[in-house]
Amino acid sequence: MTNEQYYTFIQPYSDAKDILHARLNVLEHNLYNISAAHPIHNIQERIKKKESIENKLLKKDKEPTMINAKDYLQDIAGLRVICYFTEDIYSLVDTLKFQADLIVIRESDYIEYPKPNGYRSYHIIVGVPVYCLDGMEYFPVEIQFRTLSMDFWASMEHRVLYKTKRNDREQIAAELKEYAEALVAIEKQFAKYTGGVGHV
Ligand code: GTP
Ligand code: MG
Repeated sequence: MTNEQYYTFIQPYSDAKDILHARLNVLEHNLYNISAAHPIHNIQERIKKKESIENKLLKKDKEPTMINAKDYLQDIAGLRVICYFTEDIYSLVDTLKFQADLIVIRESDYIEYPKPNGYRSYHIIVGVPVYCLDGMEYFPVEIQFRTLSMDFWASMEHRVLYKTKRNDREQIAAELKEYAEALVAIEKQFAKYTGGVGHV
């Protein structure tokens, strides 16, 4: 994949991401109007780099070509939506799913069912219609919904354990799992003050 091919390839993914980002902003404004509290703390976005696309395809035993990227990768465009409370996440997911022109490609609720290491987040891959000169095509965008505390934990876990070789990994992993549980308890305490969704 040349640099030029890469930039042409990612353009519609990037457009799909921008469209979805704008829709999430609209939902944030609407939910703010009815609850008088902002459900979203911030939204981060990224497009997978050329090297990451190629490495991920090689890991899947596929040639690192654009056709394979299109066929086998659904996280080329990504949004990470950081909310205050778990309830905010479910409100956003429900209202987003209500938008009839979006298609849900895959969904993993790691909040209801956390990963064994303690990772929590709501992942959803959404097909976004992108209209161009010769018609419409759906492009996938992966959204990771997290609360501030889930994002804090995931960022720290990534920093501490990802790509590091250390012989105390197991000990640290066990401790991180405890912290994940402690953070759930703390978040619930904060939710008590607001009813979870920030009603006035
Ligand atoms: P990928 O091949 O990584 O895309 O796995 P998948 O398709 O099974 O998706 P999954 O929903 O498990 O995770 C995708 C993304 O979620 C990762 O690229 C990370 O950004 C995030 N993620 C998943 N698990 C963890 C975890 O244990 N720790 C952290 N820090 N992030 C995670
Ligand atoms: Mg993935």
